[in-house]
Amino acid sequence: MSQHFGHDVLIIGSGAAGLTLALTLPGNLRIAVLSKGQLDNGSTPHAQGGVAAVLDDTDTVESHVEDTLIAGAGLCRADAVRFTVEQSRAAIEWLIAQGVPFTREDTGDDEGGFAYHLTREGGHSHRRIIHAADATGAAIFNTLLDKARQRPNIELLDERVAVDLITEHKLGRPGRRCLGAYVLNRATGEVDTFAARFVVLACGGAAKVYLYTSNPDGNTGDGIAMAWRAGCRVGNLEFNQFHPTCLYHPQAKNFLITEALRGEGALLKLPSGERFMPRFDARAELAPRDVVARAIDHEMKRLGIDCVYLDISHKPAAFIKEHFPTVYERCLDFGIDITRQPIPVVPAAHYTCGGVLVDQHGLTDVPDLYAIGESSFTGLHGANRMASNSLLECFVYARSAAQDMLAKLDDTELPQALPSWDASQVTDSDEDVIIAHNWDELRRFMWDYVGIVRTTKRLLRAQHRVRLLLAEIDEFYSNYKVTRDLIELRNLALVADLMIRSALERKESRGLHYTLDYPNLLPEAVDTILTP
Ligand code: FAD
Ligand code: SIN
Repeated sequence: MSQHFGHDVLIIGSGAAGLTLALTLPGNLRIAVLSKGQLDNGSTPHAQGGVAAVLDDTDTVESHVEDTLIAGAGLCRADAVRFTVEQSRAAIEWLIAQGVPFTREDTGDDEGGFAYHLTREGGHSHRRIIHAADATGAAIFNTLLDKARQRPNIELLDERVAVDLITEHKLGRPGRRCLGAYVLNRATGEVDTFAARFVVLACGGAAKVYLYTSNPDGNTGDGIAMAWRAGCRVGNLEFNQFHPTCLYHPQAKNFLITEALRGEGALLKLPSGERFMPRFDARAELAPRDVVARAIDHEMKRLGIDCVYLDISHKPAAFIKEHFPTVYERCLDFGIDITRQPIPVVPAAHYTCGGVLVDQHGLTDVPDLYAIGESSFTGLHGANRMASNSLLECFVYARSAAQDMLAKLDDTELPQALPSWDASQVTDSDEDVIIAHNWDELRRFMWDYVGIVRTTKRLLRAQHRVRLLLAEIDEFYSNYKVTRDLIELRNLALVADLMIRSALERKESRGLHYTLDYPNLLPEAVDTILTP
């Protein structure tokens, strides 16, 4: 039997954004935090490099703003950038107060004082990345999860897959308010009904749409797809960030080699040992990611090679092991000693810069529906996200969303009498092979046709394929019981379609969107906004 639940706030996602929001809201509110797998299945625990923030006395808000605007290639929203950067110190202070063990260094004074170590990454003109060695995401996630577990008002519900949002409009009632969500409980196989005064999409990104990605398996754009189906606009979905350096090894799935290695002096080399980045950009290895990923792609295609190499072996072994223990150990597992050998690397899909259009509080177009973290499009990243600005955005907008909800709480009722999910017309599928096949096909043509370098012909080809898949998936969805795989495929195909539409609309090359048919920059930078 399916069940009905009621909460003050329903947060779909247990990553940096979702947990920060849950912990920022007061303890008298009933909060549910959902995760579609184990609680740690999002990107957050995998984050390596750190969080960008203005913390050093020689750094300034102006400088962080300026670097973000440059990396964003003219498309950042200046107010969103300033707002985020101005809030960065407070967000880090909050994390420190929660107990996040950021890496410290002795100041060398007699009182045994310390400062937080700040590293550097591409696009940043200052050392401003606070980190916990090279496992920052895990340190943050574990700390926030421990805190959430201590709060009786927060229910942490794993293996719950949100299928769709419930809105007044969808129920044929007057208004457009979001009332809750239908959620598959993977343990019972039933779809339960969650009613909430406020609903929050904190579902992460959609990089799983590509065959090769740094992301964990669950990053299938569910938040973006659910928001679109609920009537929200989405923005700038053509800007898919490819991280320049993922480990290239047949047995390594999704392992990132943090950009902080380049921040601390690692060099990109061809198999011959020759450096190539200075030929592409004066900032060389520390150019923004779009530039570095395109340069690697160019060299791999030019020379017909499978990978390039990232070399930090000229640094002292003790320094490497102290700063990059995770990367060191993981590479060693694959027989690569990074203190002595260069690391084989390739670019892979990493981050979804666009998403659900929101205001400064994370509020979407649909009343009482918020989107925070990687699912959202705040305007911070423009055409290319600068390293370590993503986690920062999660914390800043989660905290801002909490404030907005508190201001509206007294005027927002818990929705009543929501209908149960109707499963009367569907049966169990006996053709799961179709789902598996469509997953593979989608991810392969997205990689081949909607990748680092695009053409209109390839985009149109991808659009044709994705539309066929969407029709097939719709038919499947109408006839069979929902499973996690089917829900994810349905969302991934929809988001792929939105990405291709956005890419076709942009008649220029800007930031992460590079097309051979329109290689130049248009004089005016305009967002690509799609309306359902
Ligand atoms: P996530 O942490 O991805 O969490 C998403 C949550 O949503 C999960 O709990 C998932 O189960 C849940 N969910 C999704 N769909 C559903 C559904 N349908 N029903 C129920 N639950 C659902 N950024 C930085 O700023 N600095 C870094 O150093 C950095 N390093 C990175 C390294 C790697 C390898 C990767 C992959 C990313 C990195 N990033 C980094 C990016 C950053 O980690 C992410 O953008 C950020 O963690 C996203 O947080 P989030 O809370 O939005 O989503
Ligand atoms: C990294 O550590 O290189 C990832 C940083 C990021 O994605 O911001």
